[in-house]
Amino acid sequence: MERTLSIIKPDAVAKNVVGQILSRFEDAGLRIAATKKTRLSRVDAEAFYAVHKDRPFFGELVEFMISGPVVVSVLEGENAMAMNRELMGATNPKEAAPGTIRADFADSIDANAVHGSDSLENAEIEINFFFAQREIH
Ligand code: CMP
Repeated sequence: MERTLSIIKPDAVAKNVVGQILSRFEDAGLRIAATKKTRLSRVDAEAFYAVHKDRPFFGELVEFMISGPVVVSVLEGENAMAMNRELMGATNPKEAAPGTIRADFADSIDANAVHGSDSLENAEIEINFFFAQREIH
């Protein structure tokens, strides 16, 4: 059984579509093993996205991620990491397949509704960033 981390970003939280997005995970057979609403500090966002620190979009990414609350979840199931990425669609919503979360709810490559771990190794790191073991069931 795999686990992966999902973040519903500030744009989607502000649009009040948290429940709709979580339902898509459940409808696809994933279980929500942990979930909470939180707000990232600048230090949190810079640490979480440290792999992107030399990319030109890093500053805007951090500003956006601290602009409002997010909902972070641990998704669990068979192929959870790849399944979540399929449900999200391409990073740029203009390239996201119809019916994906980003095609339906995202506005731009920055305000792109959701984040999902891109490997099992990163999933473990990202889950541990947000959750204690006792919060995951
Ligand atoms: P996410 O999956 O959260 O990982 C990094 C984020 O950087 C990405 O989604 C996008 O929202 C944002 N971003 C902005 N510009 C780019 C870009 N050119 N390539 C990749 N990610 C970008």
